[in-house]
Amino acid sequence: MRFAGKRAVVTGGASGIGRATALRLVEEGAEVWIGDVDVAGGEELAATSNGRIRFQRTDVTKVADIEALMLAADAAGGIDVLFNNAGAGGAREPIDEIDADGWDRTQALLLRSVAMGIRYAAPLMAARGGGAIVNTASIAALQTGAAPTAYSVAKAGVLHLTRLAATDLARHHIRVNAVCPGFIITNIFASAIGVEGEQRTVVNQAIAGIAAHAQPVQRAGRPEDIAAAVAYLASDDAAFVTGTHILVDGGMLTGPRHSWDVDAPSLFDTLEAFR
Ligand SMILES: NC(=O)c1ccc[n+]([C@@H]2O[C@H](COP(=O)([O-])OP(=O)(O)OC[C@H]3O[C@@H](n4cnc5c(N)ncnc54)[C@H](O)[C@@H]3O)[C@@H](O)[C@H]2O)c1
Repeated sequence: MRFAGKRAVVTGGASGIGRATALRLVEEGAEVWIGDVDVAGGEELAATSNGRIRFQRTDVTKVADIEALMLAADAAGGIDVLFNNAGAGGAREPIDEIDADGWDRTQALLLRSVAMGIRYAAPLMAARGGGAIVNTASIAALQTGAAPTAYSVAKAGVLHLTRLAATDLARHHIRVNAVCPGFIITNIFASAIGVEGEQRTVVNQAIAGIAAHAQPVQRAGRPEDIAAAVAYLASDDAAFVTGTHILVDGGMLTGPRHSWDVDAPSLFDTLEAFR
């Protein structure tokens, strides 16, 4: 019960990582406000939470929506924890094809939203004596090939913003950290190709097969894996942790596949064939 008596705001809380984190925080005693554009998903989650979760329609690309969410949560008792997590794939074109609108939309969704979330929550948290902020970055912030260019740049920005915000807000006793998920089975992949409703389950099952073998830990990543790391960073267990990130990727970034998969050929295996 690390969050007994605490209040949290979770953006993108209607689905996937945000939903699992909202449930984890509630399980540990928190009351949670979720902000999301998915009204049906958000209201459904709130309705099944015994009043522990409240939903407010929030489009994180709209600064006024972010401010309204923070003010509503603060008026209901204050904000101790903020999880800036809402997101989607964004513009998919390579850098020599992307247009400025796609670039701007992606940065607004994934980077400006985090900056403005911090901007409007921090003064409210400071007035209560402090708090903890966690931002969702990605393995794509750290290496190429994991996601489209505009998305990856935004997530790299989230990591540096995390460090800068940690320094800016230290004087208010607010810690700021990030989590970098690896390949986690959520609706983000189906949404990126325009698949909605029940059909998403079919897409998710197909992706889970790939995800189970994409990293040294031989199973697909789950939203709950990320929720556990976020709960740690947001809790007093991480009281001496700020301005950094936790990679939760099943070991995906450890190195080339042949280093952990004995069946995957390495350069030397290939050369051996010519001996
Ligand atoms: N799933 C992965 O493998 C993975 C890996 C790295 C990072 N991430 C990041 O995790 C975060 C959560 O994604 P997820 O995988 O849980 O996907 P998801 O699609 O299950 O959840 C994302 C949520 O964000 C909401 N959302 C989208 N645009 C929004 C907007 N403009 N305003 C408010 N809410 C909005 C969606 O409605 C949805 O509820 C994202 O920031 C994503 O980039 C995911």
